[in-house]
Amino acid sequence: MNYPQIQFSERKSEIDLEQLQQLFNICAFWARERSIEDLSIAISNSEPVISVCDGNRLIGFARATSDGIYRATIWDVVIHPDYRGTGLGSKLVETVLSHPRMQVERVYLMTTHQQGFYEKIGFQRNTTTTMVLYNQANLEPLPAEEIQLQELRGG
Ligand SMILES: CC(C)(COP(=O)(O)OP(=O)(O)OC[C@H]1O[C@@H](n2cnc3c(N)ncnc32)[C@H](O)[C@@H]1OP(=O)(O)O)[C@@H](O)C(=O)NCCC(=O)NCCS
Repeated sequence: MNYPQIQFSERKSEIDLEQLQQLFNICAFWARERSIEDLSIAISNSEPVISVCDGNRLIGFARATSDGIYRATIWDVVIHPDYRGTGLGSKLVETVLSHPRMQVERVYLMTTHQQGFYEKIGFQRNTTTTMVLYNQANLEPLPAEEIQLQELRGG
C-alpha cells in the first residue's frame, strides 16, 4: 500500500493529545486510559518524540528517553491497525533511532509480543537486564534540604 500523504514529524507541539489518547486506547494495551495531562508530561520529558500523520489523522507514535551518550530507551511504539504491515512501523523506529539524541552505546526497549518486529530492525533479545519497581506512590520525595545535604556528602 502507498500513502503519499503520510508525514513523520518530530515536532511535539503538533501532536493532538486527544488523538494520541485514542490511538493508545485502541492499540497500546500498556497505555490505555492515560490522561491528557500525563501524556503531555511524558512528551515534554521525552526526546525524540515522533508522530506519524495521514493528513490530520494521527496514525503512529513513538518516543524515547536518552542520556545522550550511554543509554537510551524507546517507549510507546504504535501504528494504527489500519496502517500496519506496510513498513510504517519500521520506518517509525528507524526515525527514532536516527535522531541525534539516540547516538548512544545501547538502545533498550521492552516488548511483550513484538520481538520479531524489532529483530528485523536489528534489536537482539536480552533476558538478563530487566528489573522493575511498580508504583512509587508510597515513596515520599526527599525534602530539598536533604537532597542538598546528600549532594554535599557525595551520596
Ligand atoms: C509493532 C507495530 C508497530 C509494527 O508496525 P507495522 O507498521 O505493522 O510494521 P512494519 O510493516 O514496518 O513491519 C516490518 C516488518 O516486521 C514484520 N513484523 C511486524 N510485526 C511483527 C511481529 N510481531 N513479529 C514478527 N514480524 C513482525 C513485518 O511482517 C515486516 O516484515 P518484512 O519487512 O519482512 O515485510 C504494530 O504492529 C503495532 O502498533 N502493534 C501494536 C502496538 C505494539 O505492540 N507496539 C510495540 C510495543 S513494544
